[in-house]
Amino acid sequence: MKLKIIEIPDPLLREKSLPVEGVDSQLATFMHDMLETMYHAGGVGLAAPQVGVLKRIVVIDTSRDEEKQKPLLMANPEIVWRSEEKEECSEGCLSVPNQYAPVERAYAVKVRFLNEKNEMVELTAEGFLARAVQHELDHLDGIIFIDYVSPLKRKMMVKRLEKQRRKAAKEE
Ligand code: NI
Repeated sequence: MKLKIIEIPDPLLREKSLPVEGVDSQLATFMHDMLETMYHAGGVGLAAPQVGVLKRIVVIDTSRDEEKQKPLLMANPEIVWRSEEKEECSEGCLSVPNQYAPVERAYAVKVRFLNEKNEMVELTAEGFLARAVQHELDHLDGIIFIDYVSPLKRKMMVKRLEKQRRKAAKEE
């Protein structure tokens, strides 16, 4: 089932999400719904608060179209290690559509989480996947990537987004 993705400035995106007690079949279904929603929107990651659910759940798939899909479904994800090495790269977010800005993040991270079968998993990620993990986990604490850009640039991005929405409303 496809879910509705909320966008800034929805206040739910600024809330702190709560841990889940475990992954039962109902929650696993929700994780798959999130994944379907993410694929449909053409994203590489989605956090539960982005569909208005304040639970510590994240789905990620950074595989390219032509590759086989490699979905990661995470409950209660926690970064247990980050590299000192950092990397700056352009980022976007399904809750801030069509806006991109460079963000500096750790080049590699180790993340611990419960998968869709309620198994504890530890994963070391680097590069683009590590970036996606950090970006999505931020959402669970109410942090959006635009928080890392300068106030001026952030203002410009929000303005562009509003303009884009007005244009879309007119065309409807
Ligand atoms: Ni995002």
